[in-house]
Amino acid sequence: MSALNTGASVHLTRLKLTDFRNYRQLALDFDRRHVVLTGENGAGKTNLLEAVSFLSPGRGLRRAPYGDVGRIGSDSGFTVFAALEGMNGPVEIGTAAADGGTGRKLKINGANARSADDLLDHLRLVWLTPAMDGLFSGPASDRRRFFDRQVLAIDPGHGRRVLDYERAMRSRNRLLGEGRMDPAWLEGIEMQMAELGTAIALARRELVALLADLIENGQEQGPFPRAGIALQDFLSDLPGETTAAREEAFAERLREARQGDAAAGRTLTGPHRSDLLIRHIAKDIEAARCSTGEQKALLVGLVLAHARLTGTICGSAPVMLLDEIAAHLDEGRRAALFDLVDGLGGQAFMTGTDAHMFAALDERAMHFHVDAGTVELG
Ligand SMILES: Nc1ncnc2c1ncn2[C@@H]1O[C@H](COP(=O)(O)OP(=O)(O)O)[C@@H](O)[C@H]1O
Ligand SMILES: [Mg+2]
Repeated sequence: MSALNTGASVHLTRLKLTDFRNYRQLALDFDRRHVVLTGENGAGKTNLLEAVSFLSPGRGLRRAPYGDVGRIGSDSGFTVFAALEGMNGPVEIGTAAADGGTGRKLKINGANARSADDLLDHLRLVWLTPAMDGLFSGPASDRRRFFDRQVLAIDPGHGRRVLDYERAMRSRNRLLGEGRMDPAWLEGIEMQMAELGTAIALARRELVALLADLIENGQEQGPFPRAGIALQDFLSDLPGETTAAREEAFAERLREARQGDAAAGRTLTGPHRSDLLIRHIAKDIEAARCSTGEQKALLVGLVLAHARLTGTICGSAPVMLLDEIAAHLDEGRRAALFDLVDGLGGQAFMTGTDAHMFAALDERAMHFHVDAGTVELG
């Protein structure tokens, strides 16, 4: 994070797409207000949010292969261009398909970015989509990915570390699988896994502590219930108080587990097995046992709390992408949600099928109509 943070509201001022999903060409101008996108199913609302999500590291909110993102029928690949008022002032970001559709290239103010993590100097993005509805009852890997993205708010290096850990773990699994028990080689990889793995776990724990504090002692969350969050991870049953002692204990554990891991064909302990445990505080039950509606409300509350924390830490609120956010809420809850989102002080992109659902936002948003890959104001 740079010390030059302006603290001003981060917002997109322009978005241009070519051959992105169902958009042949699109150019939209925004002011600092929220952006509401309404239109029929299949019109291209989520596609537009996906394009904005490409302004953060990774494969965006659908986690789609880049090859799927280019418009069907075009062979030139997609491009996304955005101008924004960023955390360090105005910035232009361009990203486009590269390497035959297997990757994407990134330019910031016209220069090739060293790493996609450079985006985190300019804006933070938070999203909530219907695909995340099963988060509490689905596989732990989805919760880890969700939470690791949230950790980026306090630690922009976290994503890199997770990737490096996974790469080291794959090397170890391969060596063990091939029966190559070369101690010096394994030792080196395990030490690397121990350092990265401990750092990953500590960063997650720090975020859990910050979020738990914010949720328990923070502002009202309106109709969105407070979530209790805890981590179930390998650090809990490892000895060691200091980081160095924990690294040593984790390395030791890996060393002892070589035979067992070789037999299992994978590494059985580490941050890649952690889970995030969520509870509905008021009802005192785990989130997975809540009703579908309660789970959604919990998730909204959690994402809003995280957005608030991100704003506090980064000095400016994140840009929020809230897909189909109003659909399941009654009028009162919708109005409360809009007030909470607006109160964060950043720009939010929101979608829905019916324009009247967003009436309560009124002048606080620019209202667009989306129809078969065209987007019009009003
Ligand atoms: N690569 C692509 N090229 C062209 N059209 C696409 C591509 N990927 C998805 N689509 C189309 O985009 C539309 C879905 O857009 P989406 O943004 O999900 O709609 P919604 O407005 O319901 O959120 C579908 O009609 C789908 O066929
Ligand atoms: Mg959609």
